[in-house]
Amino acid sequence: MRSLWVVILAVLSAAAAVAVVLHLSLDESLGHERAAILSGVVGCVLAAGTLHRLIVVRIRRLVRGLDEVAGGDLSTRLSSRWDDEIGLLTTNIDELLLTLRENFEELRTHDELRRRMVANVSHELRTPLTSIQGYLETALAGDGDWEEERKKLEVCHRETKRLARLVKDLFQLSKLDTDQLEFHFETVSLVELADQVGLAFEQRFADKRIDFVTDLPDDRLDVIADGNRLGQVITNLLGNAAVFTPEGGSIRLRCRRTEGQAVCEVIDTGIGISARDLPHIFDSFFHLEKSRTRNLGGTGLGLAICKAIVETHQGQMEVESQEGDGATFRFLLDLAPEIDLD
Ligand SMILES: Nc1ncnc2c1ncn2[C@@H]1O[C@H](COP(=O)(O)OP(=O)(O)OP(=O)(O)O)[C@@H](O)[C@H]1O
Ligand SMILES: [Mg+2]
Repeated sequence: MRSLWVVILAVLSAAAAVAVVLHLSLDESLGHERAAILSGVVGCVLAAGTLHRLIVVRIRRLVRGLDEVAGGDLSTRLSSRWDDEIGLLTTNIDELLLTLRENFEELRTHDELRRRMVANVSHELRTPLTSIQGYLETALAGDGDWEEERKKLEVCHRETKRLARLVKDLFQLSKLDTDQLEFHFETVSLVELADQVGLAFEQRFADKRIDFVTDLPDDRLDVIADGNRLGQVITNLLGNAAVFTPEGGSIRLRCRRTEGQAVCEVIDTGIGISARDLPHIFDSFFHLEKSRTRNLGGTGLGLAICKAIVETHQGQMEVESQEGDGATFRFLLDLAPEIDLD
């Protein structure tokens, strides 16, 4: 590394050399002492000028750059061509600024997400509350026709249930986001779990005339998991498939093994998801426009919760779909280490 001291020594030596040359050339005309003083002064002025450029000017540039940063301009770059101490300091400050810029961007994204979340929660809470209020007011102002009042109260009841579910889901999602939801991990057979959850859906699919197939291997596919939470994921995926697959369609619940991992997938022949919507499908409160207008009901938190649960198991959640051509949702988990009983 070219040290600043080496440069300073080089400058001082050059200035001394200039002084000696000057001294020799002035010696005869001015006399020995005067020539020596004059040459010394010229050498010092030269050395001071060069050192000023080398150190003070660069430090001043550094301070000016930091002033810009302090003024809020995080795009400032202080880059230095030198690799002496000041150059090193400049590079370190530049790296610090880069980290600062990245952290700032991350904070901005979080803030944006938080704002969107608050707006979504307020919207989702306001809609059912407004309709409950409206129905109760007309029921109270009604002429006592019990059948009419009853219909209004039924709507209120339905909306209250929706609100209660929304609050429960939000509570769960916020606990998942902050790692506060308790998980009880143990060895769980993914195949047995999928079989149980699938059984609970058979009647619902039969009622909707959907052809439901469970495609499970002989293998147990043991994973280390919280069975209840994982069951909730499969329930959510089958529930979505049931809602978004029209009558006459088919749904397949399949478990299989890949390299070191267990895979569970729900494959449907329903309405599918467009390429534009696909990247946002696991976002909280995401609804496709179609499902909103058709009023298919949900709160839009189910898939966000599924993804958070799977990620708490160190697993991956995936989706493949094309608009109008069905969807496949799957999660992958590491297989539990096999215990050798011999
Ligand atoms: N199998 C699927 N086929 C087509 N679209 C789907 C499917 N699963 C989910 N979606 C789309 O993704 C959106 C978000 O799904 P998610 O499960 O998060 O919420 P939801 O079902 O609307 O409500 P919730 O599950 O909270 O009751 C759905 O509203 C729907 O538009
Ligand atoms: Mg859902």
